Amino acid sequence: MLAPPDDQARAFREDVLAGLASSIPAIPARWLYDQRGSELFDEITRLPSYYPTRTETRLLQSIMPEVAAQVPAGAAVVEFGAGSAAKTPVLLEAVQPAAYVPVDISGEYLEQSAAEVQKRFPSIEVIPVVADFARDFALPQSIAAKPKLGFFPGSTIGNFVPWSATDLLRRFYKLLGTGARLLIGMDRVKPVERLLAAYDDPAGVTAAFNLNLLERINRELGGDVPVDAFRHEARWNEILSRIEMHLVAARDVDFNVAGAAFHFDRGNSIHTENSHKYGPRGARLQLLAGGWTPVAEWTDPERDFAIILAEAQPERFAP
Ligand code: AVJ
Repeated sequence: MLAPPDDQARAFREDVLAGLASSIPAIPARWLYDQRGSELFDEITRLPSYYPTRTETRLLQSIMPEVAAQVPAGAAVVEFGAGSAAKTPVLLEAVQPAAYVPVDISGEYLEQSAAEVQKRFPSIEVIPVVADFARDFALPQSIAAKPKLGFFPGSTIGNFVPWSATDLLRRFYKLLGTGARLLIGMDRVKPVERLLAAYDDPAGVTAAFNLNLLERINRELGGDVPVDAFRHEARWNEILSRIEMHLVAARDVDFNVAGAAFHFDRGNSIHTENSHKYGPRGARLQLLAGGWTPVAEWTDPERDFAIILAEAQPERFAP
């Protein structure tokens, strides 16, 4: 199902207005990824201090023979997200599925990346689906009878608080069906200094990425937020095991968005993203809570990042 652009614009306005008015101001992280935000995130993935992308890509390459051995012939790979130019081809090359179904909310980016995949893998049926994978959508009929492999790299699961991550994983289970497999990337807990460096780089790319949300609000919602009154902050939340991105008011500030007036005292923040980090047991427990039974797990030698293969086993009588 296609989400019309108007729906997107309305959802953005509603999320921003409700989020700014909340007693703990917060805006959902998905709105960080407009055209400019996606470009900046791409730049983040190439930063020396941002370890997840390159660690996961290398790990993926090294485990592919083992993964491919566990995937039946004639499978359909369903990727949640549009696919990265670096990771997706590694998987498709090794697994040789019959079909590849990338699911992404941004139709433009999806069409473009799907076309590139189709060109590189002419024998795979590439069927892009424009949808918000966190909401209801249907898979194409033509893959109904095929064995399914879900692919959810990048530790995107870490953007969801455990409650929502559980909902999301159960949704994937329902969508892919009993017997399906899921290959998922999950970032690991590590020393705080390394985590903070990854989310607050000296070149200021992550700061620009975070602050772009305010620019987007000004661009798309007719806001007059003084962007220079806010600064990027990355915080480690120990009890919840997550990095939080905030936009902190550097001075008292008043502004308007879509006709509504807002005031922030100096030091108050807008919470813009969570990036949960998992210990080995926490990662497996999160998957199990969503209905997925881990069947294999790999990490890089430094144990910075984990890739887990899980199975949607049937519900059984439990003693
Ligand atoms: C794309 C959500 C996996 O949480 O590491 C990177 C986003 N935010 N730097 C992450 C992000 C700031 C990234 N994910």
